[in-house]
Amino acid sequence: MAILTGINKVKTAVFISGNGSNLKSLIKFSKSSKSPISIRLIISNNSKAKGLNYGKIFRIKKKVINFRNTKIFDNKLISILRNNKIEMICLAGFMKILSKYFIRKFSGIIINIHPSLLPKYKGLNTHKRALMNKEKYSGCTVHYVNSRLDSGKIILQKRVKISKNETEKTLTRKILIQEHKLYPKAISKIFNL
Ligand code: GAR
Repeated sequence: MAILTGINKVKTAVFISGNGSNLKSLIKFSKSSKSPISIRLIISNNSKAKGLNYGKIFRIKKKVINFRNTKIFDNKLISILRNNKIEMICLAGFMKILSKYFIRKFSGIIINIHPSLLPKYKGLNTHKRALMNKEKYSGCTVHYVNSRLDSGKIILQKRVKISKNETEKTLTRKILIQEHKLYPKAISKIFNL
């Protein structure tokens, strides 16, 4: 296997809105010589996102972009990504929907992690809905991003059993642990590693 160094790794931006636990797991993964990506930029649409602290801890450049006007938001984002030569975007708990214009304009790869077994439970409150419907299993999915919400081609999924006394809190925690393993695996798969 080829040894990957910072120079030949894919320059990646991670987009977050909250805690950033997936960001943390991706940063750890990116530091291994087996990882095809190097995380160069953290983008948040929320200035209070806890995950922004990982930028400080791991010395990764971070930017908060939050314009109400979609065109201004998109153009600002595109210019930051171009300036940093970003080739790939990993959405990790980014709770803003990217516009069709932005998706068309960005020439690299965009992927997302979603806390359900897509195509089931697109959108928000996935765990609550899975429990309400008395599902036996839920899980998480890494998929390519296209202009339809949570509908791009699936890269990898992990199924998680829902136990008898499961609550939204316990299921969230259980699935998040799997997300942290699944996201790096899906990235390796994209690059046939
Ligand atoms: C994760 O469970 C992620 O799958 C979900 O938000 C959480 C973020 O946690 N994403 C979505 O719901 C996107 N539709 P984190 O900030 O600790 O990584």
